[in-house]
This record gives sequence, C-alpha cells and structure tokens, in this order.
Amino acid sequence: MKHTRSIELFKQAKRLMPGGVNSPVRAFKAVGGSPLFIKSAKGSKIYDADGNEYIDYVLSWGPMILGHTHPRVIRALQKAAEKGTSYGAPTALEIELAGMIRKAYPSMEMLRMVNSGTEATMSAIRAARGSTGRDKVIKFEGCYHGHADGLLVKAGSGAATFGVPTSPGVPKDYARHTITLPFNDLKLLEKTIKKNAKSIACVIIEPVIGNSGCVLPGKGFLQGLRRLTKRYGIILIFDEVMTGFRVSYGGAQQAFNIKPDMTCLGKVIGGGLPVGAYGGSKEIMKKIAPDGPIYQAGTLSGNPLAMTAGIETLKILSNRATYKKLLNKAEALEEAMTDAAKRAGVKTKFYRAGTMFCTYFTDKEVRNFTDAANTDTVKFAKFFRKMLDRGINLAPSAFEAGFMSLAHSAADINKTARAAFEAFRDVRS
Ligand SMILES: Cc1ncc(COP(=O)(O)O)c(C=O)c1O
Repeated sequence: MKHTRSIELFKQAKRLMPGGVNSPVRAFKAVGGSPLFIKSAKGSKIYDADGNEYIDYVLSWGPMILGHTHPRVIRALQKAAEKGTSYGAPTALEIELAGMIRKAYPSMEMLRMVNSGTEATMSAIRAARGSTGRDKVIKFEGCYHGHADGLLVKAGSGAATFGVPTSPGVPKDYARHTITLPFNDLKLLEKTIKKNAKSIACVIIEPVIGNSGCVLPGKGFLQGLRRLTKRYGIILIFDEVMTGFRVSYGGAQQAFNIKPDMTCLGKVIGGGLPVGAYGGSKEIMKKIAPDGPIYQAGTLSGNPLAMTAGIETLKILSNRATYKKLLNKAEALEEAMTDAAKRAGVKTKFYRAGTMFCTYFTDKEVRNFTDAANTDTVKFAKFFRKMLDRGINLAPSAFEAGFMSLAHSAADINKTARAAFEAFRDVRS
C-alpha cells in the first residue's frame, strides 16, 4: 500500500495545526507512522487520499453505527440543508429527537442538546454541583469524560488521589475538587464517599470503560455504586457518550438495569454530526436556565442538520430486528477474532459490550486502567500496523474501543479474521 499523499498532507497539516490534527489520537503517536488522510467513506469502508480502501472499525470513534453515508441519513440531510442550516430558534426536530432519546433512556426525564460529549459532561457536572451545592466530583481511573478542566485529572494508582492535573493549564485549585478512584473497587469507593460525604456533588462514570479499551464492570460494582450514591445524596452521572445505543439500545443503564440520576450522550445521537445531550430527573433539569439559575447555553445547540442526522439514525436503529442484526455482527467478530488469536498462538483477551470491543495483548483479565496499562502495547502497535497494511482500520491506540456497524458484512468479518490471523502470527514472531 502506498501512502505518499497522506504523508505529504501530514507534512502540510503539521505546519498549520498542533501535531497536524484537530484531536490528538488521530496523529498515530501511540502506534507510530503517519496518519491516513481520509477522502471519503461508504458503508463499512473508508478511503484514504492515496485511494486505499479499509474496513473501518473506528467509525469516527463510534458515531457511524449505521455505517458511513447511509442513504437515508444523507437524503434527510440534503433535504434539511435546503431549508436552512441553523436558525438559533427552537424547531420541532429538537422535540422529535429528545422524545426518541427519552423513550430509550427513561431516566432522562428532561434533557438538553449540546454540541459535543465534552459539553454534555461539563454541563451535567455543573448541574450536579448547582443542585447539591457541593463541589467535589468522583471519577474513575481510565475513564475519559472529554477535556473540560476538572475532568482532565490524572488517574492515581491504587489508592484514591486528590487531583493532580494531567494537563498543564488545569489549575490545581480546580483539580483538587476531583477525586480519582480505580474502577471496580467498591470498597475504596465506599471509604472515600464516607470520608467526603458532605462535599461530593456527583460521581461520573463510563459504565463500561471504552476509553481504556473495553473494561467491563464487575458483578455488583454498578449496583453498589448506585446504592452508595443514593444513600449519601450524591448525583450519579452515567457518561454514556460512548456506551449509549452501543452497549444496548438503551445503553449500559438498560443492560445493567441501573437508573442513574443524570446521563450524558453524544456520538450515535448525532448520526455523524456534532451533537451531545445531557439530562436526568425533572427535579435536577428544572434548575437549568431559563427554568432555573444554573446557566448553560449554545449558539448551535439543537442544530437542525445535527437533529436530522440523529433522528434518521435512531429511526433505523430502533427497529428491534435491525438492532439484533447489529449485535449478531459484533458477536461474529468476537468469535472470529478470538479464534484467529488462538490459531496464531498469541495470548490475547477480547472484551465486548454490545457493539464496542477491544483486543488486549495479555493473558490476564483486565478489570481497571492499571490492568489495561500493563498489557503489551508494543505488540498492539505492531498488530495495528499489520492490520492496516491488510486493509483493516482499527483505532490507533491499545486503549481505544473498536466499533461495529450495521454496514459490516459477513465478507468484511471474514476478511478481518484472515488479516487478524496473519497479523497475530506476525506479532508472535
Ligand atoms: C465516554 C466519553 N465521554 C465524553 C467524551 C467527549 O466527547 P467529545 O469528544 O464529543 O467532546 C468522549 C469522547 O470520546 C467519551 O468517549
């Protein structure tokens, strides 16, 4: 495969943008080499600037659950664009999408549309602080909730750590309101909550951690978290920006039968356009401006094109038979990948939650970020490059989930399995 055009474009981009990209992981730093510059996409495939074709499991980091350029979504977008691309005034489209979301996530009695997952989590935390009058936030190591200041706090190892800013530019005063704990450690969570009960506004969590690969909650962890937060009047925020419509149609909260106080969504609900949403009980959401004093706003929030792409995506996805078909594809990929690794004699752990998945190079179970960080990332980087050479586009980091779409065919999965077997064999040697 030739990548001369992508390499040339990367050189140009680096002169204009930090690292040549508009979001850091796109730069391939974790796996080496030059990132692909994409020219177009259709169904399960993306095409780079050199004309190479790849089966795509990145899917724009999750949103393209129907596959790329789904004809119904594109047609609806074309029609909507002719009527205007932004009004800055309410539309019926916002009511339609909010209604579809609330039907799937009944815990979101009221919600607000924003433009990204970062905005959703940032606004949900403000709502939690505003309605409890408390400042502290508990998050978990390896969970990413976007790049708002108080959430960019380094994960401590083992014990609870009082915020050390991960990124320069995050004031220490700000970071000290964030407590970071290891995922799946209910005892430490209980101890920390008891110690700080009066000052904790909320706990925010990715109920399945997609931002460390794919880390599943252990038995009883989410239930224990729900019990504890309720007992101490702490708002539980499920960040389902990634797990929403992916772990199941109703997200992780449906799959694990937990009712959080607030939920954040993004990715899938925008059908490939920039959208986020946050919502929860009426009691909390009635405190948001203009009903209440907690301020949050957005020039392009509820944008008609973004609403249209989201509505059309959810119309297709909400069909039970269609959703089952999608899950079957993810199951088939799991079987194929697990089998390929076994035949190649490479020790891996494959985890999947609905249509999110990840292959770790390890023979140990991965239950938290430390476990994920201890897997063999050098082997992953080699595997990633060998897969790319064979026309398979995986996320360029050992700590990112892969995604399945409705457009992936049995032939795509077979091709992926063949490539994976060869790539695993190369990694072993
Ligand atoms: C769980 C989770 N929350 C929040 C975000 C931030 O969303 P965005 O990149 O749209 O700001 C992401 C992004 O990947 C995410 O995975």
